Amino acid sequence: MNLIEVRDVTKTFFGASEEVTPLRELDFAVERGEFVALMGPSGSGKTTLLNLLAGIDTPTHGSVTVAGEEVSALSPRALARWRTRNVGFVFQGYNLLPVLTAWENVEIPLLLLKLTREQRQRKVRTALQAVTLEDRAGHLPRQLSGGQQQRVSIARAIVADPEVLLCDEPTGNLDREAATATLELLQRLNKEFQKTVVMVTHDPLAAKAAGRVVQLDKGRIRAPGDGDTVHA
Ligand SMILES: Nc1ncnc2c1ncn2[C@@H]1O[C@H](COP(=O)(O)OP(=O)(O)OP(=O)(O)O)[C@@H](O)[C@H]1O
Ligand SMILES: [Mg+2]
Repeated sequence: MNLIEVRDVTKTFFGASEEVTPLRELDFAVERGEFVALMGPSGSGKTTLLNLLAGIDTPTHGSVTVAGEEVSALSPRALARWRTRNVGFVFQGYNLLPVLTAWENVEIPLLLLKLTREQRQRKVRTALQAVTLEDRAGHLPRQLSGGQQQRVSIARAIVADPEVLLCDEPTGNLDREAATATLELLQRLNKEFQKTVVMVTHDPLAAKAAGRVVQLDKGRIRAPGDGDTVHA
């Protein structure tokens, strides 16, 4: 069953003087439980596609359905709540708030949900344990290494227990060792915690961690036979 379904999606950005259409009549589907790497040249629309899946942006044409919900049709208010429960987002630059501790950064998404303080604490603890950072809970981001900050951001992405994890170049800023640890963590979240993962990457090693590689090119998924989808 498809957990993610993108149908006939076109995305155009209307600038002051020019239009950019990074995605054109795009069809793309991900089955529940998959770990997909999304590759393609810079500017090919990878981040644009992830943003559509997360409901951070809306398509100009076509539909995006994730976990049975047509994301592209939700109101902004409904979307904020839906996003918290259903998708976790991991950014290349971590996007942690510098004045908050690791614990507080991980707790943020839960503030949108109706939970007791105890329930919140339990979830934050579980998420920090999953990324093996319980002992750094009180540290500020600047007191953590890049790899540790990325793990805090992954803990934040999984804290509300969403089914889908969207990662935009999660190893882009990391050295080999930290990148490998991050990829192993994503694989474990996929296999043990049944997260469906879509990961944008330029890194061939990262792509190897995925079960399937999809190439975006000129706004479309490269057709089969063009070296399109490589099954690991
Ligand atoms: N908010 C926006 N407004 C206008 N144009 C945008 C916007 N976001 C993206 N674009 C344009 O859409 C195209 C695709 O951008 P996108 O960020 O999706 O590429 P990408 O594949 O993620 O590239 P990279 O590998 O460099 O991160 C680019 O030409 C970009 O300039
Ligand atoms: Mg990008």
